[in-house]
Amino acid sequence: MSDTIYVAFATQKGGAGKSTLTALVASYLRYVEGVEVAVIDCDNTQHSMNVYREHDLLVTNENPRLKRIMHKFYLTHKIKPYQILMTSPGDAVKVAEDFVKAGNNPKVIFFDITGTINNRDIVNLIAKMHYIFVPITTETGEMASSISFANNVYNRMITTGQSSIREMRLVWNKVNSRDKPRLCEIIDNYMEKLGLSSLDTVLVKSNKFEKDGTETGNGAIFRSTMLPPDKRLMKGSNLEELVKEIRAIIKV
Ligand SMILES: Nc1ncnc2c1ncn2[C@@H]1O[C@H](COP(=O)(O)OP(=O)(O)O)[C@@H](O)[C@H]1O
Ligand SMILES: [Mg+2]
Repeated sequence: MSDTIYVAFATQKGGAGKSTLTALVASYLRYVEGVEVAVIDCDNTQHSMNVYREHDLLVTNENPRLKRIMHKFYLTHKIKPYQILMTSPGDAVKVAEDFVKAGNNPKVIFFDITGTINNRDIVNLIAKMHYIFVPITTETGEMASSISFANNVYNRMITTGQSSIREMRLVWNKVNSRDKPRLCEIIDNYMEKLGLSSLDTVLVKSNKFEKDGTETGNGAIFRSTMLPPDKRLMKGSNLEELVKEIRAIIKV
């Protein structure tokens, strides 16, 4: 048995930040902290991780400045970009197992999962995760959806012991600084009564989360599947704190 850890940023509704957080945390671990990771993109509705990677390859090819940055980064670090494997929820675990059997040795495999807990393939896949992080925002629909999702996972899988899940935490994302602490604390208190708890780290709403490079521009990049986030953009993002907190939980 391999000791690869399966981690998912998961919830049923799109828009809370699953793919964004998957890309940011995977890239930070790999390109800043040197942890071997892989990503399984099993979000049949969008395949965002794959779209991100294609975007990153395109801008690197087209933008000479980015090409130089990329070249220098990979020459200095002597590594390869982490793999993003695209599949369906039903095949995701098999794809991960085959990836490890083929001689790859990721410490963490991230699964980008979207969908309701009423779909059998998705239920089975979620049950195979070791750690689940549920992005939650202060937007009413997304908030309700994330709480309902986490509540279902907690009641149907975690309390029944019918899964591999060791821990599940919610992650506040896209929070306006004025919402916190009032709104998040009220909701945290409510969730605590349901047995749910969120990470200490709160991610604010900021357009830096969408900065992923362009074919011509010379702006700094925050979210890339092939590069670490720009150091200046890291300031105030809480990404470093997020990764630290996640590492302590998943023990990597
Ligand atoms: N902290 C944030 N601040 C601003 N925009 C964000 C933040 N997190 C995510 N977004 C944006 O919100 C949108 C939805 O995020 P995404 O990661 O695609 O969600 P999901 O995968 O859950 O559907 C994207 O346009 C993304 O760039
Ligand atoms: Mg997504």
